[in-house]
Amino acid sequence: MKIYDFPLYYEIAFSFFDVKKQIDLFERFIKRYSRIKVKRVLDIACGPSLQLREMATRGYKCIGMDINSAMLNYLKQKAKEQGAEIETIKADMTDFKLKNRVDFTFIMMGSFGFKDNQELLRHLDCVANVLKSRGLYLIENMYLDWVNFKSQNWIMKKNGITVKARYEPKPIDALSQTFKEMLTLEVRHHNKRLWLQEKEIFKVIYPQEFLALLKLNGKFEFLGWFERYKFRKLRSGNNNNIVLLRRK
Ligand SMILES: C[S@@+](CC[C@H](N)C(=O)[O-])C[C@H]1O[C@@H](n2cnc3c(N)ncnc32)[C@H](O)[C@@H]1O
Repeated sequence: MKIYDFPLYYEIAFSFFDVKKQIDLFERFIKRYSRIKVKRVLDIACGPSLQLREMATRGYKCIGMDINSAMLNYLKQKAKEQGAEIETIKADMTDFKLKNRVDFTFIMMGSFGFKDNQELLRHLDCVANVLKSRGLYLIENMYLDWVNFKSQNWIMKKNGITVKARYEPKPIDALSQTFKEMLTLEVRHHNKRLWLQEKEIFKVIYPQEFLALLKLNGKFEFLGWFERYKFRKLRSGNNNNIVLLRRK
């Protein structure tokens, strides 16, 4: 069974960060680097989006976009429970449009993954079309580190539910710069046990190659690679990063 069809278990496995601090950090980036006021925000490949749920409580107009209906229904329901409203859009992040442009957009938790450069360029074109001029695009966990492919295991518990997670990246082919990402969740929910998995093939985006692709796309300014949870530039390449772009 697929992980993204079970938003609650995904959320438990991936709620190891402090969302209030994370949105404080977004607001610092906006204050320092955005050249426009931010009211409407878009989360691309949003999943259960703790971020939009927090931003909605802070008064932003929030839009979540994802390819999976279960994720979008869950997000809408969670927003409703907290008395907020979040607009949801089912779409592929390499082929999407919005009726009205947004002031700020972001993509979290390694969702900025593509099979090849063509997909990445299509994605940048879509983002350029929906983001207002001088607004920011924040990307978390870009796959730029081909040196340290490491598996990770962790356990999260909430409301009597235990989720054992395993993340395994494996290099596939040096010529196409591809690797296979395997995510497994073992869930214990009272008497129920579930084994969930997602497998994807992504391309490593070499940092200097990314800069060249941005130039080719021509619609964004590159503002820098930052540490994932800090308002500080990266000193060496790793996947715990934030990339900040500004629409020209
Ligand atoms: C790793 S999860 C990230 C979810 C959320 N952004 C977070 O920070 O936890 C990846 C999400 O991307 C969605 N997704 C995968 N491929 C997509 C695509 N091509 N277009 C839009 N969403 C996609 C999945 O349904 C899933 O919700």
